[in-house]
Amino acid sequence: MHPKGQLLAVRLAAVAGVVALPSRTQQSALHRPILNVELGPRPEFLVNDMDEGWLKDRLSSCLEMEMQPTKFSIGHRGGGCLQLPEETLESIVAGTRMGAGIQECDVAFTSDLELVCRHDQCDLHTTTNIVATELNAKCTQPFTPAGNGTAATAKCCTSDITLAEFKSLCSKMDGFNASATTPEDFLDGTAAWRTDLYSTCGTVLSHKDFIGLVDQLGLDFTPELKTPPAAVPMPFNGWFTQEKFAQKLVDEYREANIDFKRVWPQSFLFADVAYWIKNEPEFGKQALLLDESGDTPATFPGAIANLTFYKDSGVRNVAPPLPYLVTLDDNNEIIPSAYAIEAKRLGLDIVTWSLERSGPLAKVGNGPDYYYSTIYNSTKNDGDIYNLVDVLAREVGVRGIFSDWSSTVTLYANCFGIFP
Ligand SMILES: *[C@@H]1O[C@H](CO)[C@@H](O)[C@H](O)[C@H]1NC(C)=O
Ligand SMILES: *[C@@H]1O[C@H](CO)[C@@H](O)[C@H](O)[C@H]1NC(C)=O
Ligand SMILES: *[C@@H]1O[C@H](CO)[C@@H](O)[C@H](O)[C@H]1NC(C)=O
Ligand SMILES: *[C@@H]1O[C@H](CO)[C@@H](O)[C@H](O)[C@H]1NC(C)=O
Repeated sequence: MHPKGQLLAVRLAAVAGVVALPSRTQQSALHRPILNVELGPRPEFLVNDMDEGWLKDRLSSCLEMEMQPTKFSIGHRGGGCLQLPEETLESIVAGTRMGAGIQECDVAFTSDLELVCRHDQCDLHTTTNIVATELNAKCTQPFTPAGNGTAATAKCCTSDITLAEFKSLCSKMDGFNASATTPEDFLDGTAAWRTDLYSTCGTVLSHKDFIGLVDQLGLDFTPELKTPPAAVPMPFNGWFTQEKFAQKLVDEYREANIDFKRVWPQSFLFADVAYWIKNEPEFGKQALLLDESGDTPATFPGAIANLTFYKDSGVRNVAPPLPYLVTLDDNNEIIPSAYAIEAKRLGLDIVTWSLERSGPLAKVGNGPDYYYSTIYNSTKNDGDIYNLVDVLAREVGVRGIFSDWSSTVTLYANCFGIFP
């Protein structure tokens, strides 16, 4: 799907003209074409950290292979956001260097109704420097310092500002300092297991920038239409409905002449996916229905039962979080869950999220972390997330895995020849 020749021809220089670049250092780095997929140190670290066994041996034997990009490895928020600011040019370049074959942009909108990449409509106060700029005054809730036993707060939405104003912001690692008495201190809240090493002014992207960049890289696209929170009632401005928002997302791929076969649109809202299937069938047939309806033991059976409804509604791809797809047997071995078995029985394709969302298992704190709750009781080695990937790939048969650090999945896919 991604022959080396095609990648050799890729030059980011053409994209640089579209994207506001904050510094010369970053600009010159981006003028280099992406020639080789590089794993970096993490996959090897994880393999060495695994329990002894055939999978460790197999993965070890693949570490010297020449790696190819693969659509099995999906860049979550760019695929580099374990260490680089999410939803940025830099995260996408890092994830692509690490072999991601599909790139994600979570799609929110600005006050002038331009589409931009942000995980949430209202996360600018934790993912950018906005509160330390004059745009703070435009926030739904400007920065309020901590004091008298109350935490510092702010709430800044993409729809509080225009696209031009959005482009003036610097992206940073997601987080905030609840004790902050100044806006500058509020920006500091990066988890200890992440890093600020690359959080120097991440390049924010419009959805059009994202399309241009990912097209240049020769990869597939997975835009996620976000559902605005209650703070941003729809229809926005009295007329911009969720349906118009869903349509605008399609229109930007059509205007850019992107073959819809390269686009895997996603939404947690069934109505969004149903809209695409009905009104834009070529676009809708590859849509991923993100599922978060079974997060508790009480709601999980309903989520499984609803798979039949999705199938009957024309949905082809379901995208549940990792813990929905696996469980433990009596020997604490990871096996496919009832959800995975039912989705396969119905012939639904499965994509799952998100590997490497969390820090080292031993540091996660009070008990199992959500994404790794299953492996937590079978092992406490971080390297054994490869056991999880192996069950997802070979037994559940997922079509792709979103990850915050693309090379982990890239190594597995190359080692087992998975190039969907
Ligand atoms: C803390 O409380 C005092 C007395 O009620 C008030 O004058 C002051 O403004 C408060 N400070 C903050 C940061 O809310
Ligand atoms: C958080 O804010 C407080 C008060 O402004 C400051 O003293 C502290 O150093 C900040 N913490 C970090 C990690 O920046
Ligand atoms: C099934 O999905 C539909 C559409 O998203 C939703 O309205 C309904 O509540 C779901 N049912 C269950 C049991 O989760
Ligand atoms: C892990 O073990 C704990 C303690 O036995 C148990 O409460 C928990 O449900 C187990 N988690 C999983 C995912 O099996």
